[in-house]
Amino acid sequence: MTKTITMIEDLRILAKARVPRMFYDYMESGSYTEGTFRANTDDFARIKLRQRVAVDMTNRTLASTMVGLPVSMPVAIAPTGLTGMQHADGEILAARAAAKAGIPFTLSTMSICSIEDVAKNMDRPFWFQLYVMRDRDFINRLIDRAKAAECSALVLTLDLQILGQRHKDIKNGLSAPPKPTVANMINLMTKPRWCLGMLGTRRRYFGNIVGHVTGVMDMRSLSSWIADQFDPRLSWDDVKRIRDRWGGKLILKGILDPEDARRAAETGAEALIVSNHGGRQLDGALSSIVSLPSIVSAVGDKIEVLMDGGIRSGQDVIKALAYGAHGVFIGRSFLYGLGAMGEQGVTLALDIIRKELDTTMALCGLRDVRDVDRTIIARTPEPFN
Ligand SMILES: Cc1cc2nc3c(=O)[nH]c(=O)nc-3n(C[C@H](O)[C@H](O)[C@H](O)COP(=O)(O)O)c2cc1C
Repeated sequence: MTKTITMIEDLRILAKARVPRMFYDYMESGSYTEGTFRANTDDFARIKLRQRVAVDMTNRTLASTMVGLPVSMPVAIAPTGLTGMQHADGEILAARAAAKAGIPFTLSTMSICSIEDVAKNMDRPFWFQLYVMRDRDFINRLIDRAKAAECSALVLTLDLQILGQRHKDIKNGLSAPPKPTVANMINLMTKPRWCLGMLGTRRRYFGNIVGHVTGVMDMRSLSSWIADQFDPRLSWDDVKRIRDRWGGKLILKGILDPEDARRAAETGAEALIVSNHGGRQLDGALSSIVSLPSIVSAVGDKIEVLMDGGIRSGQDVIKALAYGAHGVFIGRSFLYGLGAMGEQGVTLALDIIRKELDTTMALCGLRDVRDVDRTIIARTPEPFN
């Protein structure tokens, strides 16, 4: 099986066959017209690289750092909600694959496996992503729980205080676990591997939330829960307060505008992530890769600039680095692997990206990923622009 999987797209096709429609659609959708979701990948495809020859390609290295921590390549796993619904125990499996690959794993607030559960099943620290909710006591407790679990960075997401609509989630009646409707039952009958996995685990609810928020024992409708709980008043002062309570490395996620990037740099956070939430929030926003250069020129010397959105290959990674990203996060690329084949699929996705990055770097005439810069980008002659 693994021999026929040679690129991330192969994993997507297999995930589509194996994951219940409701959760595959949740992953593969963007908000509204999905214009920004598509732009994230389309804009990468438009960038061309300079081919260089007759340069020594031996002794190549992809090793780098992200927020000062060593990584085997400058790629981290992005926080994604409901990962344990793409595959049973999904967060633990993906965290293990990331640890084996020597890259960071970020656990979402909206994960199925809880912070404590992932920590118990890992021998390496991971990163925790925080959403800010109205219940500040709950947020404080979440931060303290991440500290107690020895998470090595906090990723504070700033671009989802109100939810961009994804049509398919409404039409499918997205919930975790799925409701026993006739349509769901018929679909689940075609996904025996997934069902077997789910029957074998007790991790089927939002592990960080259910039982930890007063009055919330069941949160079947994700969108209405977010509308009720997420705090639309989130401000830069809150960011500073969270930074102080956390006290460790802080990464601000969801920056798409140079002015916001300047504000982010003033907070004293270690890094920001240029991101439009994988095209799931402001439909019509610029793609992440198009937004990146102006943010790097605005704050690149004051704060580490990371990015995510649309990365489906090692070629995409090198293009992001060329435009000034210090490192990148992958969302769907690892989720395809997870939905297709569990931990092995995430490992495969990371191997694919690593090999593509290595080969592409060599063909661009470089041996050290830290040397990648704008000079590897080819200028398209006038008539072909
Ligand atoms: C299914 C799914 C769930 C997500 N859930 C979260 C989340 O809980 N917290 C968060 O900060 N970002 C979340 N994101 C956004 C990702 O962290 C990341 O920004 C995005 O996936 C990057 O785009 P890519 O999927 O094209 O790589 C989610 C993305 C997807 C696809």
